[in-house]
Amino acid sequence: MEVLIESVDHEARGVGRNDNKVVFVENALPQEIVGVDIRRRKPSYETGVSTYIKSVSASRIKPRCVNFGVCGGCSFQHIDARTQLAIKQRVLEDALERIGSVRPEQILSPICGPQFNYRSRARLSSRYVIKKEKALVGFREKGKSYVVDMASCEVLPDHISRLLPELKLLVQSFSIRERVPQIEVACGNDVNVLAFRMLEDPSLEDLRLLEQFAAKHDLVIFMQRGGPATLTQIYPDEPVALTYSITDMNLTYEFGLSEFTQVNTDVNSVLVRRAMSMLDLKPTDRVADLFCGLGNFSLAIARSGAQVIGLEANQELIDRAIDNAARNELSDLCDFKVANLFTDGCPDYRSLQSMDKLLIDPPRDGAAELIKGVGSDGPKKIVYVSCNPATLARDAGTLVHEHGYRLLSAGIVNMFPNTSHVESIALFGR
Ligand SMILES: C[S@@+](CC[C@H](N)C(=O)[O-])C[C@H]1O[C@@H](n2cnc3c(N)ncnc32)[C@H](O)[C@@H]1O
Repeated sequence: MEVLIESVDHEARGVGRNDNKVVFVENALPQEIVGVDIRRRKPSYETGVSTYIKSVSASRIKPRCVNFGVCGGCSFQHIDARTQLAIKQRVLEDALERIGSVRPEQILSPICGPQFNYRSRARLSSRYVIKKEKALVGFREKGKSYVVDMASCEVLPDHISRLLPELKLLVQSFSIRERVPQIEVACGNDVNVLAFRMLEDPSLEDLRLLEQFAAKHDLVIFMQRGGPATLTQIYPDEPVALTYSITDMNLTYEFGLSEFTQVNTDVNSVLVRRAMSMLDLKPTDRVADLFCGLGNFSLAIARSGAQVIGLEANQELIDRAIDNAARNELSDLCDFKVANLFTDGCPDYRSLQSMDKLLIDPPRDGAAELIKGVGSDGPKKIVYVSCNPATLARDAGTLVHEHGYRLLSAGIVNMFPNTSHVESIALFGR
């Protein structure tokens, strides 16, 4: 069966028609005519994989990564960077229109950073395959629980990617090689950390091998035996601090391994600067940073001279935000409090309405309860940072159609190049 691909969906599957039934085809791009092997027939659609490509799209490029197609990490590497952005832009605009019945008055230029080697944090899986007497370390296979046998990774920092072959040999040499399911990577300003999840205590020899590896590659090693509270630094002896910076705002943030940070540090700096210019801050402004985490946006707001109140559900992150404000000498302008922002009536909506401006950066579920409480005489400006176009669109619909806001502008934030993940930023005003 041959299908003409008309568009691409949010998982990078080509979308075409077979006898008026929609077909989703893996590895197929718009304008391509592809041979399709149908894998699944449903009453309203079919899914399949392309077996050959008869007319190749000008947007198709050779994926850099040898694991492309197998690895669940990247699904867009066969698409040129410009088309990747256009697809994400379309996903955002479609969601706003379809779900929220809103259209931005202005489309912002995309926020972009390096196309590769951008992930400062990653959670790698590790598996010892007894039959092959071999350890695998990498991301999971697409749609499967198998671990990809990765010798390199194009989205990890180069110095971490180059470690992968030796890291596999290290795990393979452990006495507890079958009991190390996960290795977390975190790269900070001055240190690179590997945190090994271990289901059993390592032997003295395992610890010696770990220390040898860490010393050779100038790494900091943590071990985690249970929940996040059991994370313990085991090399070197002196405690080290993980930090990231937004240099042109003279801000440095400390973070812990179990704490949320934006994984693409370069794009985060541009995103924070863009959010600040959209908020158009004055020193007299009172701003609420909702879902503030460890103060990523709050400290930038305070740096501009405005007063900020940061709310967030996680006590550990609030403690960290307070420390970060002190570290950057901004405590006088910052007030951080624990609050569950998914609960009806939280925060106290009257205090929210008295704010001049809001910055909202919720998790994937969005901020439905909170937006309901903003009301029709809420803050003059709202900047909404989103990791899910569908919930942004839903909340935008409420702000525009129920609370009388205008969607002044919106654009994408390419936090995860080569993946289908769409982050975005939007500005609402009265
Ligand atoms: C996308 S992160 C943004 C963090 C921060 N703005 C940043 O840029 O680093 C979303 C944050 O929402 C917090 N969160 C999740 N559920 C929450 C809730 N019900 N109430 C308040 N905060 C919540 C998470 O702990 C996380 O820090």
